[in-house]
Amino acid sequence: MTDTVYVLNGPNLNLLGLREPEIYGDTTLDEIAGMLEDRGRELGLSIDMRQSNHEGHLVDWLHEAQAEGAKAVLLNAAAYTHTSIALLDAIKAIVTPVFEVHLSDPSTREEFRHRSYVGMAARECFQGHGAKSYLLALEAAAAL
Ligand code: DQA
Repeated sequence: MTDTVYVLNGPNLNLLGLREPEIYGDTTLDEIAGMLEDRGRELGLSIDMRQSNHEGHLVDWLHEAQAEGAKAVLLNAAAYTHTSIALLDAIKAIVTPVFEVHLSDPSTREEFRHRSYVGMAARECFQGHGAKSYLLALEAAAAL
């Protein structure tokens, strides 16, 4: 196993900072990557941060995380959280621990966000803390 943590981000998260800042805050995805790299350095972990608007890329990267011996995956699947059986199956198909991450708290938002397919297989979920949700998930990954 390596000391690398994959941080996989789904659709529209490339627009963080501009996108509905009243819900998601004004921190950009690059800034979150920087925060994770700083904290990762302290924890002895390296961060492989990626974003895609395409569901299949996220599936491929989950498989890759296992093939490359990643320590853990932090996954903010964004809207695919609530729709993707393919992501649920991919998480179940690998032994690499997957932590679910959300900036907002989907359970307090529209009803269609209440179901999380990712959450049916993820080890733990960190949500509702803005960019800090990622840091909390990284701490949990470091404690494995
Ligand atoms: C999100 C919550 C999802 O419901 C939404 O579709 C997103 C972002 C979050 O980080 O709060 O795109 O995953």
